[in-house]
Amino acid sequence: MRTRIGILGAGPAGLFLALLLRRAGIDSVVLESRDRAAVEGTIRAGVLEHWVTELMRELGLGERLDREGHVHDGITLQSHRRRFHLDIAGLTDGRHVTVYPQHEVLRDLIGALLARGGEIRFGISGARLHGIDGESPFITYREAGAERESRLDCDFIVGADGYHGPSRQAIPASLRQEAHRLYPFAWLGILVHARQSWPELIYASQGEGFALLSTRTPEIQRLYLQCDPAEDLTQWPEARIWDQLRARLATDDGWTLDEGEIFQKGIIPLRSFVCAPMQHGRLFLAGDAAHIVPPTGAKGLNLAVADALVLSRALEAEARAGDSGRLQRYSETCLRRVWKAQRFSWFMTRLLHRDPAETLFDAQVREAELALIRDTRAAAVSLAENYVGLPFDAEA
Ligand code: FAD
Ligand code: DHB
Repeated sequence: MRTRIGILGAGPAGLFLALLLRRAGIDSVVLESRDRAAVEGTIRAGVLEHWVTELMRELGLGERLDREGHVHDGITLQSHRRRFHLDIAGLTDGRHVTVYPQHEVLRDLIGALLARGGEIRFGISGARLHGIDGESPFITYREAGAERESRLDCDFIVGADGYHGPSRQAIPASLRQEAHRLYPFAWLGILVHARQSWPELIYASQGEGFALLSTRTPEIQRLYLQCDPAEDLTQWPEARIWDQLRARLATDDGWTLDEGEIFQKGIIPLRSFVCAPMQHGRLFLAGDAAHIVPPTGAKGLNLAVADALVLSRALEAEARAGDSGRLQRYSETCLRRVWKAQRFSWFMTRLLHRDPAETLFDAQVREAELALIRDTRAAAVSLAENYVGLPFDAEA
């Protein structure tokens, strides 16, 4: 089989890219190891930056987003049993974020791509990248249930296969620089049948640490709490989860948390990671394959879309006018945004989590930082602008 762009991975990065290329009339084939139901059922991110929702509408994906997504003009921050509202829209000339779960985005992307004649091969295995240093790269893989290997020839390969996929390893280790940071805490995330307890997201740092109250639908809530990365779910019976959530979200004004049946739970490690460069020869990495942020700033999905947009424009320029300048600068262009998002995600994580080794001094500085955001316009604007999404630079 032959196509222009071979894309490994049907996550947000690979699917946004395939749809953007489709709009530009550039053929691609997406190879995905999981089946369609698994991709569309994975519970992950929730928060879309303002420009991502605009892009979705531009791509004809606005209908369900506008009907089912929840627009948030602000967030609530909490510590010492007190809350304050950060007026994101007021601080950013009217921009907002939308809570619309990642698996719904993926359902919309897959539906649109297939309806527009795009090609996704689900359930493939054993993908290997070849010839990325030369003119004729290709991917070998096995179709679901097939005995023989298949081969996808293409002009360029895009590694959009997440943190654990094989693409990044195809860049020779001697040419790759990897920056890492591990955190001494993880997140326990739950989905609950319950009513919304508060009109906006609450980011709390109280008692034994961080808690986040988010929403999915008027009847389903998403909550997270900081936990020890060495613990597993067996150490978190429901009673312990609710005790901790109640304690970390408690206020003195009589507010109560609406509780209900927990129907999904999981533990998420927190890490920061950047691979540079994000390209080698005819291979381009996009999304989590090249970088991971801790989830506190809600940036991972949004960064994956940003890479896809930069790459689609670069591939378009190459296809239309034979201009490969943007492609050559792909990594450089993406990394500017990636490092700003890394800084913000690290800042939010440090601000809101209790490090088990934290001293009294560290705790007081964190407290002062939160007070600065509450009391100082410059600090509030900085948080709001980063949260809602920095101006998009797909390379002028
Ligand atoms: P992925 O979504 O990981 O997709 C990669 C795809 O490649 C997968 O479908 C995988 O099956 C496939 N693949 C892997 N290996 C192979 C192979 N060998 N062959 C073929 N296919 C392969 N981000 C936000 O922006 N906002 C949030 O609020 C947020 N919250 C989060 C909450 C949680 C609990 C988690 C876990 C993450 C959160 N994130 C958030 C991060 C976000 O989910 C990721 O950054 C995003 O999914 C990255 O997209 P991607 O397409 O790069 O990678
Ligand atoms: C959600 C996830 C995040 O990482 C975040 O910062 C806010 C909300 C969510 O899943 O709803």
